[in-house]
Amino acid sequence: MDKREALETIRHFVNDLFRDDTSGHDDIHMKRVAAWAKYIAVNEGDDPFLCEVAALLHDVGDHKLFSNPAQAILQRDKLLLDVGFSEKEVDLIADAIRTVSFSKGAVPNSRIGKILQDADRLDAIGAVGIARAFAFGGTINQPIYKEEEKDAIDHFYEKLLKLRELMHTESGKQEAERRHQFMLQYLEEFYREQECREETSHVKE
Ligand code: ADP
Ligand code: NI
Repeated sequence: MDKREALETIRHFVNDLFRDDTSGHDDIHMKRVAAWAKYIAVNEGDDPFLCEVAALLHDVGDHKLFSNPAQAILQRDKLLLDVGFSEKEVDLIADAIRTVSFSKGAVPNSRIGKILQDADRLDAIGAVGIARAFAFGGTINQPIYKEEEKDAIDHFYEKLLKLRELMHTESGKQEAERRHQFMLQYLEEFYREQECREETSHVKE
């Protein structure tokens, strides 16, 4: 298999599927996750090519993004076979992708699955993760911040601040630590600005 050609074809497939997404799952999300999966794999002595390919394809067939997930998954596997992956490699990639989601609570058992999950989780935290949480919140009509309602800030406590503890790889943990600290700083600043508004709200103009 010509790996460069295979990557090119897969990137095209991914661009076509995700280019127009505005919920935080666009083709740039796939590219960032692929770049981090590759970086982690190189650092940890795993297969960077398989990790990159699995990462590029990790949201294909996601139930909230596809009206016909089963069909998307079939197309994905056909593409992988067409560009030259063996049945065994396709199974490995498919298995890693099946276990990637936080909300489904699955724990990956393969190295590729662990690396892929770490890379996808990194993209949910830090500066990019914050942007994605608000973008995703917008697509489900969730407010940014409301006292009595579920809001995007709640999502930090329900998921984002938990991810640091759930990383599998050393390089993933290191990067997650940095992003975690940035989110704490962000929240502190967010509340400071909020408090300021509350303190001055009684002042008549
Ligand atoms: P997963 O499948 O791993 O649970 P998702 O695809 O649901 O992840 O999440 C996509 C992005 O949207 C992530 O950055 C995630 O943190 C964010 N997100 C998911 N649910 C919410 C929510 N209720 N409010 C704000 N952001 C969310
Ligand atoms: Ni993702």
